[in-house]
Amino acid sequence: MTTTHETGSHGTVLQDEAPKDGAPVVALRNAGKSYGNIRALHGVDLKVFPSQVTCVLGDNGAGKSTLIKIISGLHQHTEGEFLVDGEPVRFSTPREALDKGIATVYQDLAVVPLMPVWRNFFLGSEMTKGPWPLRRLDIEKMKKTADEELRNMGIVLDDLEQPIGTLSGGQRQCVAIARAVYFGARVLILDEPTAALGVKQSGVVLKYIAAAREKGLGVIFITHNPHHAYMVGDHFSVLRLGTMELNASRDEVSLEELTNHMAGGTELAALKHELSQVRGVDVEELPEEKDLTAPVVTAPEGSG
Ligand SMILES: Nc1ncnc2c1ncn2[C@@H]1O[C@H](COP(=O)(O)OP(=O)(O)OP(=O)(O)O)[C@@H](O)[C@H]1O
Ligand SMILES: [Mg+2]
Repeated sequence: MTTTHETGSHGTVLQDEAPKDGAPVVALRNAGKSYGNIRALHGVDLKVFPSQVTCVLGDNGAGKSTLIKIISGLHQHTEGEFLVDGEPVRFSTPREALDKGIATVYQDLAVVPLMPVWRNFFLGSEMTKGPWPLRRLDIEKMKKTADEELRNMGIVLDDLEQPIGTLSGGQRQCVAIARAVYFGARVLILDEPTAALGVKQSGVVLKYIAAAREKGLGVIFITHNPHHAYMVGDHFSVLRLGTMELNASRDEVSLEELTNHMAGGTELAALKHELSQVRGVDVEELPEEKDLTAPVVTAPEGSG
């Protein structure tokens, strides 16, 4: 059975109901990772279902990048299990993850800034035509396909000939999302795609995260920002000091609670106490824990 969220703005399946095929594409079970004697991640459980956005939140050094590096094949877990389609796996390279349909868009996107948008869209997987040894790039087909695919995701760029370096950070993220969708990704990992963006551009990226979900992808969205997470998320995992301190579906947690988890009410109190001993800081001016709540926002326009 499928129900929509209370917001009614996007028709997704709730995590605690059996999703369409019932099984997560990617799962971590009691997984952990140590770098030498630094334990970066410990006892982590995570499930990624098709057509759902799983948000991973946490403060600096909480272990978010470590978590996605395991899934994307850059690092290997040292504890617990990592399963893809129910099978235990251990990737040695990002290529192996990609072959299983797990695509990662990093914050510092791997693009060639001076190459046209369409060329970057096909970077490393160019279309060719003609028999060997006369085979050459099929430029017309690549341009046409890139244009169709971007439009298909609702991304309209004036000129695909422009160097990708001239696009805004948000537009580049969107091209990378459309590219992953076109090349058949089943799981899309986004490491802080909105971290360096302003309000408007963040909204655009959130819209394409929702579009990727509508196309059936399981999205892992890494962010510091509970507001961004709550606009598109179906499931929320909060990491703190390498362990998962919250693992809740959308109907189990409010934006208010999520914000409090991120802000760390008790830590804020401790900080206030420390600051009270520093001259020149008026602790009465600092926000109270109750003020760290935020109005409930609904999904951005056009995200459904
Ligand atoms: N290659 C490494 N070698 C040793 N320690 C590492 C390595 N990578 C990460 N760590 C440590 O593991 C912990 C988790 O780091 P990680 O980069 O996963 O955090 P994060 O949540 O992504 O933080 P941020 O928000 O700053 O990106 C940190 O204490 C970090 O110093
Ligand atoms: Mg990180």
